[in-house]
Order: sequence, then C-alpha cells, then structure tokens
Amino acid sequence: MPVIAFANPKGGAGKTTAALLLASELASHGADVTVIDADPERWISGWGRLPGRPDALRVVEGVTEEGIVDAIAEAQAAAQFVVVDLEGTASLMAAHAVGMADLVVIPTQGGSMDAKGAAKTIRLIRNQERMLRRQVAHAVLLTRTSAAVASRSLRNVREQLEGAGVPLFRTTIVERAAFRDIFDYGGLLSDLPDGQVSNLGKARANAQAFAGEVLERLRAADADADADADASAELAGAA
Ligand SMILES: Nc1ncnc2c1ncn2[C@@H]1O[C@H](COP(=O)(O)OP(=O)(O)OP(=O)(O)O)[C@@H](O)[C@H]1O
Ligand SMILES: [Mg+2]
Repeated sequence: MPVIAFANPKGGAGKTTAALLLASELASHGADVTVIDADPERWISGWGRLPGRPDALRVVEGVTEEGIVDAIAEAQAAAQFVVVDLEGTASLMAAHAVGMADLVVIPTQGGSMDAKGAAKTIRLIRNQERMLRRQVAHAVLLTRTSAAVASRSLRNVREQLEGAGVPLFRTTIVERAAFRDIFDYGGLLSDLPDGQVSNLGKARANAQAFAGEVLERLRAADADADADADASAELAGAA
C-alpha cells in the first residue's frame, strides 16, 4: 500500500499540516490510513489523542531512526495509505523514509530558505534513487500561500522550480485558520464546526484538491513502475 512521506529539512515548511490534511481527507473518503509521526514536535500524535479521530485513521507515535523502516513496513501491511511526517532536519530517518516512499511530498513556503531545504530534499531523493536503482516519485508543494494575492516571491519559486525541471503540485496549500484549528479541535477537517471556523468550505476544497492530486501522482508513479517492470520482463525474455 502506498507510502507518502513529507520531507523538507527546513523547520516550519508546512510538513505536519499538509500530512494531517492528506490523512484527514483520505479518511473522510473511507480509506484506512496510518500516520507515522516521526516529527519530534509530535503534533499529529497530540491531535490523535483528542476526541474525534476515526478508528480508520491510526497514528504511530514515538518512531525512532532505528525503528522507522519497521514501522513503515508494518503500517504498509495493514493500512491502505501510510503517511509519514518527518522532522525538520536532514537526517538518516528522512533518508530511510524516502527509501520506503512511493511519493515524497516536499512542502515549501515561497521563500529562499525553504527552497534551499527543498533542493536538499531533492538531492537526497536523487541519491536514494541511485542506491535503490528505482525512481522515487516526488513533487514540491507550495504552502501557506495567500488566498488573495499571488506574491512575487511565490511566482519566483514556481518559475525557478519549473525551470529546473522539478515536479510541482498544481494545488498550493493556502494559509487558512482551519488548517491550524484542526490541531486544537481534533477530528477530521470535515468534522470542524461550520460557522466557528472561517472559510471552512474553501479549506475543505483546498485539502480535497491536494489529496486528489496525491492520488493522481501515485497512479502515475505506479504506471511508470509497471512500464519498467514490463520492459525488464521483455528484456529478460529476449535474453
Ligand atoms: N496552510 C497553513 N495555514 C495556516 N497555518 C499553517 C499552514 N501551514 C502551516 N501553518 C502553521 O505554520 C507552522 C509550521 O507548520 P508545520 O508545523 O506544519 O511545519 P513543519 O514543516 O511540520 O515544521 P517542523 O519542521 O517544525 O516539523 C505551524 O504553526 C502551522 O500551524
Ligand atoms: Mg512538523
């Protein structure tokens, strides 16, 4: 079952927020999801202890560098989707998770410090790809974007990434109160109280668009892997 890891060694890039939004969206559509909380801040573990977490969304807490590969493999055997929230530092733990991932999401705010963190993650992915002799699907996710204005720095980041051939999510994660409130209220985004959280409908539509694009990218990565396997089988047959 697919493993989606959220990585960027830059602290505060929006990894934990985007990881919980994805898990919440998948669970609200009936999927069975396990979140591996490998972030020392443990925000998702805290969220998981609040009332409202559905049984279909489990959180694995206190994962260490030594334990992360086992934790992911175990979760993969049981859940339909495994979401891994990584810490905001470059670490062996991130390398392990990237090695296990079907898709690496690289949350990035529209600033040069975050972009440097994203570039570091992409170098890590390239190295893992060489070691594993397989492609690791990945894409940068622009976070905390303004609903009102497309800022110049954001446009610059987008242009730079596209120019460098780095895959980029079409959807950005907009700065929304709902994306902070979910950590206080508990439960899924779809359970947040209407009327008490501003722009909730827009926040839900944003999270849904993001989750839809994650599924699209997973399908594309799967098709690529199948094509590689077919080519290898054909070569083996011809040999
Ligand atoms: N889309 C958003 N809307 C509103 N607030 C956001 C959004 N994304 C992130 N934040 C806020 O920004 C801060 C950092 O976000 P988050 O914890 O998700 O980043 P992180 O990359 O996981 O950080 P760390 O590297 O410390 O683990 C948090 O206070 C979070 O509530
Ligand atoms: Mg975090």
